[in-house]
Amino acid sequence: MANGAAQMLDGEIAVQATGVAKTFDARGAVRALDSVDFSVRRGEFVSILGPSGCGKSTLLRIVAGLVQPDAGGVLQVFGKPQTQVSDEVGVVFQTHNMLPWETVESNIRLAAEVRKLPRREIDARVDALLPILKLEAFRRHHPHELSGGMRQRAALGQILITRPQVLLLDEPFGALDALTRDQLNVELLRLWQEMRQTVILITHSIAEAVFLSDRVLVMSERPGRIVEDIRIDLPRPRDPRATKESPAFGRYMTQLGQLMGVD
Ligand SMILES: Nc1ncnc2c1ncn2[C@@H]1O[C@H](COP(=O)(O)OP(=O)(O)OP(=O)(O)O)[C@@H](O)[C@H]1O
Ligand SMILES: [Mg+2]
Repeated sequence: MANGAAQMLDGEIAVQATGVAKTFDARGAVRALDSVDFSVRRGEFVSILGPSGCGKSTLLRIVAGLVQPDAGGVLQVFGKPQTQVSDEVGVVFQTHNMLPWETVESNIRLAAEVRKLPRREIDARVDALLPILKLEAFRRHHPHELSGGMRQRAALGQILITRPQVLLLDEPFGALDALTRDQLNVELLRLWQEMRQTVILITHSIAEAVFLSDRVLVMSERPGRIVEDIRIDLPRPRDPRATKESPAFGRYMTQLGQLMGVD
C-alpha cells in the first residue's frame, strides 16, 4: 500500500480498500476475497481483470456498500468510510435494472426522482444525457424495444442522472457482441473525458481494460487478491484505431495475457 499512502498525502484518493476479506458461509465456506488492497485516485479510470468466480462482483458490492466485508474496509469518496450505500456512488451491474413497464426516459429519471431532485433539474439532466447516450429517438420506448447495446446505454443513464462522483461498472458490456462493445467503449471513454468521474470497471476483456484505463488491477483465482497493478501509459485522448494499432498497446495486451494465463 506504499502507493496508496502516497496518494493519500496528495489528498486525491477516491476509493481505498485495505485488507478486504469475505467468506460466504451458506453452503460450506467459500472464501471469495482474501485481503484485497488497492486505491483509486479522484478522476482515475481503473479496470479490474480476473478469472470468473474470483470475487470481482463481490469486491465491487463491498466498495458500493451493498455487502459488508468480514475483515478490512473501504474508504471512499475522499476519506469517508463506506459502510452504506452513498449518493456519491453509482453502480451498473452485470445485468440491467430497468423496469420493463416504464419508458427509457422514466427509467432514467427514476433515481433522480427517488432523491427528490426538482422536476426542472431532472428535465434538464435528461435532455442533456439522452443525446450523449444516443437514445434521444428512443426516450418513449420500453426496454424490450431496445437493442442490447441501447439497454446498456440506458442502464448507464440510470446511474449518470444522479451525477455520482464514483462509477462502479460490473461488466456492463459483457453480454454484447464485440462490435457493439467496442462502440460502447468509445462512448464510455468520451463520457468519462467530459464528466471526469472516478471509474472502477470490472471486465473479462483485456483489450477493453487496456483501451480504457489508467491502471489495470489483476486478481488471482479465488480467494481473490490483487496480484498486479499495471499503469497503462498510452496517450489521451485515445483514438480507437491509433491506440489499438500502437506497439505499446500490443505490449500491454501480451503482458496482461500472460498474467491472465491466456497466452
Ligand atoms: N451472495 C452470495 N452467497 C454465497 N456465495 C456467493 C454470493 N456472492 C458470491 N458468492 C460466491 O463468491 C465467489 C465469487 O463470486 P463473484 O460473483 O464475486 O465472482 P466474479 O469474479 O464476479 O465472477 P464472474 O467473473 O463470473 O462474474 C463465488 O464462488 C460465488 O459462488
Ligand atoms: Mg461478476
